[in-house]
Amino acid sequence: MSTATIIDGKAVAADIRAELAARVATIKRERSMPPGLAVILVGQDPASQVYVRSKERQAQEAGFKSVAYRRPDDISEEQLITLIEGLNEDPSINGILVQLPLPKHIDEAVVIHAISPEKDVDGFHPINVGRMIAGEHSLLPCTPLGCITLLKRTLGDLSGKTAVVVGRSNIVGKPMAALLLRENCTVTMAHSRTVDLPGVCRGADILVAAVGKPKFIQGDWIKPGATVIDVGINRVDDGDGKSHLVGDVDFAAALDVAGAITPVPGGVGPMTIAMLLRNTLESFCRANRVDCAGL
Ligand code: GUN
Repeated sequence: MSTATIIDGKAVAADIRAELAARVATIKRERSMPPGLAVILVGQDPASQVYVRSKERQAQEAGFKSVAYRRPDDISEEQLITLIEGLNEDPSINGILVQLPLPKHIDEAVVIHAISPEKDVDGFHPINVGRMIAGEHSLLPCTPLGCITLLKRTLGDLSGKTAVVVGRSNIVGKPMAALLLRENCTVTMAHSRTVDLPGVCRGADILVAAVGKPKFIQGDWIKPGATVIDVGINRVDDGDGKSHLVGDVDFAAALDVAGAITPVPGGVGPMTIAMLLRNTLESFCRANRVDCAGL
């Protein structure tokens, strides 16, 4: 018996992109200059190529200027930083995103530091991370922001809810915990060294899975009626040369227990790109003193 509501991130993301496209159309009519997004991809990682193509295409479809810079994986750190510095100075570019992971010879932290915090639409620059933790205004990381948007649309006010985040990456787990705290949740960060992880998860009204392990979270780790946000995107071989995507949660088992759950694909994934476009528009509005209320 399945009871959980399936949270349709694909539909919510499409609504948000349509709202953003309407705002961009107005900006283009009034100013003749669209918001601009630059995406940098180093090397040939197949998943990164797919993500970058989606980011490029969805930005264009929403009316943004969208430029992708594809560079070979033997590019030097210095050359990459020179590219970023040029984009920092380019007034037609409001958002700069360097797709991660980068090749081993390039220091990700050095590259992220090189991006102007005002154009850091991933929200990864330490200035933006610090502002987020301090509760100041900043560009917020796209995946956690997408998760919070889905949670608020599903639950309304999140105040007082018990939230457990499984996984402590800089891209998802840590900022997710910070944003849930900002929403007045009581937050636990769980990870590979957590004692009695199933028991900790069972305490969660909101359970966020961001570990990168297929079907890691079991059905009986979920509190009945909980809201489950599955950030995992794991490609699993079917054995016949084909493959399919699964999340970090055993979705079929969770359906019987959870109150609501995001599917994979079609849950958190599409929200990440919608939030990237949102951040790029916000960065444009701030740079050009355009009102961005309600974004
Ligand atoms: N690689 C996986 N997720 C992300 C993301 O949100 N931003 C960037 N830049 N790279 C990623």
